[in-house]
Amino acid sequence: MSDTARHYNATDRCLHIIDQVIQTLSGQPKTTGRDNPARGVPEGNLTAAERAHHARLMRINHTGEICAQGLYQGQALTARSTATQAAMQQAAAEENDHLAWCDQRIRQLGGRHSYLNPLWFAGSFALGASAGALGDRWSLGFVAETERQVEGHLGRHLDQITPADQPTRCILAQMQADETAHGAEARAQGGADLPLPIQLAMQAASRLMTHTVYYC
Ligand SMILES: [Fe+2]
Ligand SMILES: [Fe+2]
Repeated sequence: MSDTARHYNATDRCLHIIDQVIQTLSGQPKTTGRDNPARGVPEGNLTAAERAHHARLMRINHTGEICAQGLYQGQALTARSTATQAAMQQAAAEENDHLAWCDQRIRQLGGRHSYLNPLWFAGSFALGASAGALGDRWSLGFVAETERQVEGHLGRHLDQITPADQPTRCILAQMQADETAHGAEARAQGGADLPLPIQLAMQAASRLMTHTVYYC
């Protein structure tokens, strides 16, 4: 029987989520097994300053994926329909691919993870659980808006990554395509348009994350 077809009770779901949280924060996420898009892509000549800047940008994207895990896992905990729970868990698995790719690129560039990841994860988990409790239509709308904002954010990072750093560019381009697909899927499943004040609050939280994580 597949994971999506199996019926989980509340205890099973809690244990599954605790397992995923440990995997996410320990840096051993369960991916879908897709190849890293940067595999075999040659790197051009980068200055030390470019490598350091790109490593910090990828640190931001890594933390963004930690947040995505928190959001999806929180939503999976409180989502009402089993179809939405399964969709959230599938999305979380795909975001783990992004998490692993960002992690690998940070290491190649000589960077490090953010010290603030556990805090951002906890906040995102609480936000996701709250969104899930509001009902699937709002929860899916929250996913669609999140993915729309992340898609724009990745485009701004692509503008900053120099052409010589093709490995980073390949990873970001694939992530952007995936986020676009996740957003479209959430809208197709009935996600509602969020009120403008909520959209603006989400943008403000995202700016706070990107500015703090660039430095720590
Ligand atoms: Fe992602
Ligand atoms: Fe996504």
